Amino acid sequence: MVDELSDHTAVVGLQWGDEGKGKVVDLLAGHFDVTVRFNGGANAGHSVVVAGEKYALHLVPCGILQPRKMAVLGNGVVVDPEVLIAEIEELTHRGIPVEDRLRLSDRAHVVMPYHKTADRLLEAASAAGAGARQAIGTTGRGIGPCYADKATRTTAIRVADLVRPHELAARLPYLLTLKNATLAAVAAVAGMSYEPFAVADIANWCAAQADRLSPLVTDTGALLRQAIAEGRRLLFEGANGFLLDVDHGTYPYVTSSNASALGIAAGAGVPPRTAGEIVGVVKAYTSRVGGGPFPTELADATGERIRERGHEYGTTTGRPRRCGWLDLVAVRYAAQTSGATRLAVTLLDVLAGLDELRLCVAYRLGSQTTTRFPASAAELAAVEPVYETLAGFDARVAAAGRYGDLPAAARAYLERIEDYVGIPIWLVSVGPERSQTLWRSSG
Ligand code: IMP
Repeated sequence: MVDELSDHTAVVGLQWGDEGKGKVVDLLAGHFDVTVRFNGGANAGHSVVVAGEKYALHLVPCGILQPRKMAVLGNGVVVDPEVLIAEIEELTHRGIPVEDRLRLSDRAHVVMPYHKTADRLLEAASAAGAGARQAIGTTGRGIGPCYADKATRTTAIRVADLVRPHELAARLPYLLTLKNATLAAVAAVAGMSYEPFAVADIANWCAAQADRLSPLVTDTGALLRQAIAEGRRLLFEGANGFLLDVDHGTYPYVTSSNASALGIAAGAGVPPRTAGEIVGVVKAYTSRVGGGPFPTELADATGERIRERGHEYGTTTGRPRRCGWLDLVAVRYAAQTSGATRLAVTLLDVLAGLDELRLCVAYRLGSQTTTRFPASAAELAAVEPVYETLAGFDARVAAAGRYGDLPAAARAYLERIEDYVGIPIWLVSVGPERSQTLWRSSG
C-alpha cells in the first residue's frame, strides 16, 4: 500500500483536471513529511472530505490537513495573496493551525489585482474579436496574465519583491502606466469600460499582503533540498491536469503552467529525478471545464447523469463541467509523457447503474484510425472516437471493502484501462471518504 512508495512521490492528474487528486494526496500525505505544490494557482480546487467535513482548497496544499506535516508553495506557483490569506484564516478557524507549517517560495510570482482584470478582459476580447470558440474559458483567476508577466520579466512581481515594499514602490508608477495603457486597449477591443488602477491603491494593497505573508516566505527550494538531504519524504501535489499542461496539453485550451509531472523539478526547485514514483490519477470517465476539444463528450442524458452523480461543478468557479466517456488515447499519452508508475482510478461509483460503458481506444479522422494524440486542437476537435463497449455494474461498487469485492464487470472495466495504458492500477476510489478506497495489492 502506501509503504510501497518511494521516498519522494508525486500525485498528478492525467486528464483535464478534477480527477480527484485531493483525495489521493490526502490518503498519502500522512506518510510524507512535506507536501509541495509546484504549479498553477487559485485556478485549482482540491476537495477533500475528512471525517464527514469537506475542505475545498485552492492554494494551500491539501497535505496540510494531516496533523504536524509541513506544506510548501513552490516557486512555480502563482500566488493570489488574498486567496491564500483567506484560506489560511478559514483553516485556522476550523481548528487546523496552518501558519507554522506552511512556507511560501520567495521566487513564486504574485497574482496582482490587474492580472484578474486582464484575464477577464482578454477572454472578452477573444470572444468579441474572433468568435466565442477562441475564448479559453479560463477560471478568471489571473493565472495566464501572471505567467505572461513571469515570461516578460520586467513587468513581473515575485514574492521576494512583495516583501520589499520600498523597492517595489519605485517600480509601481512605470508598471501601472504600462498596465493601464494595455488593459484600456484590450477593454476597447472587448467593447468594455476600464477603470485604471491607481499607484497608491496598489502600493497599499501590496503592503497589506506583505505584512500578512512575510512570516511564511522563504527559499523553499533550499528548504526542500535540505529536507531531502536529511532523509525527509516529499509529496508533490500536481494542480490542474496533464491535458491542461502549457506544453503538452490541448494548446491553446490549456492553463499557463506545466501542469504535469514535467513541472515538478522546475516548479519546486529540486533535482529532476527527485520524484521516484509518479501516481497518475485518472477519473473513471472524463470531464472538462472551459473551452476546447473533447472527443468523448456526451451532450446527452448520459452526460447529464454523470454530471449530477459526480457533482461535476467547478470547485473554483461553480461552472457545470462537460462530461463524457473515458478517453484512453488521451490517458495513455498523458501517462507515458508523465512517466506515471502507478494509476489511481477515482469516482468509479459515479458510473454505477449504467447498462453499458464505453472506452475510447482510438481516434478516427477521415479514413485514418490512430492512437496518436494530435498537437492541433482543430484536429482533436475533428476526430471521431472509436469505442469499445463493456458491461455496466451496479451500485454495489460503493460498498466494496476490497478490490476483490468489486463486481466482475467493474474489475473488467478497470483491467481494460490498465491493459491499454500499460501501467498498474494501484488504488481505486469508490466514494469521497478515506475508507472508500480499494488498494489493488490487498487483493
Ligand atoms: P486558467 O488556468 O484559469 O487560465 O484556465 C485555463 C483552462 O484550464 C480553462 O479551461 C480552465 O477551466 C482550465 N482549468 C484550470 N485549472 C483547472 C483545474 O484545476 N481543473 C479543471 N480545469 C482547470
